[in-house]
Amino acid sequence: MTAKPVTHYPQGTASGGRTGLSHVAIIMDGNGRWAAGQGLPRAAGHRQGVEAARRAVEAANELGLTHLTLYSFSTENWGRPAGEVRDLMTLLRKFIAQDLPRLKREGVRVRIIGDRESLDPELRILVTRAEKETGGNHSFTLQIAFNYGGRDEIIRVARSLAVKASEGVIDPKKIAGSDIEQLLDTKGIPDPELVIRTSGEKRISNFLLWQAAYAEYVFLDVLWPDFDRSHFEKAIAEYQLRDRRFGGIGAGAG
Ligand code: IPE
Ligand code: IPE
Ligand code: MG
Repeated sequence: MTAKPVTHYPQGTASGGRTGLSHVAIIMDGNGRWAAGQGLPRAAGHRQGVEAARRAVEAANELGLTHLTLYSFSTENWGRPAGEVRDLMTLLRKFIAQDLPRLKREGVRVRIIGDRESLDPELRILVTRAEKETGGNHSFTLQIAFNYGGRDEIIRVARSLAVKASEGVIDPKKIAGSDIEQLLDTKGIPDPELVIRTSGEKRISNFLLWQAAYAEYVFLDVLWPDFDRSHFEKAIAEYQLRDRRFGGIGAGAG
């Protein structure tokens, strides 16, 4: 068998600013525990979580990143009580309605990844509008993962490829990593170099399964509503100590 790479790492061409990073993805976890700790309902934790998300966008921009992805509702989160699901939908709607003018002004491109077909039509229209109105911005991209699941995304890609193959548009034997990347929700976005998860949990919960195949992971004990720029900087500092080998033998070897 010839030694042929299955896919290429890392994907993307972003230059990586002064931190050496271009794209950070965050699993924003711990809103419920934060609220419980304050004797408040879970909804209050989610509201504070939106404030932390605003701080994260600002910090990412100031730190010279070009892309930030925030995991805000997973395909598994439909399993929560109906009232909480409704609260989370409402928070996204309010966030877009309130923040869109400012994001537009500040040159932020907004993208939503995930399955939007099963969202409420009003929310679907709003996210499409946000993408359209900010589509001309190029300095910074905010990707919101909403009704997102890595497996769901890959299933949707598999279906599209199967349809194309059955229509004779592609040769199934020639399907490559790049064909898959073209069909992912993140098409055109460089892979994240760093994934941060707050709340102390050490799992990826179905986040960016393809894209984060070679990301570095930093798990922080802070609950998401308390996350601020100092935590962001701490995670980046930890990232900078890592030796990324991509299956090779590393810079320090030999
Ligand atoms: C993260 O906080 C927000 C979402 C998953 C939508 P959680 O709501 O998961 O908070 P915990 O994990 O219960 O503390
Ligand atoms: C992951 O958090 C999803 C989001 C942050 C949106 P969860 O709280 O849903 O994950 P689990 O249930 O702890 O794996
Ligand atoms: Mg959680």
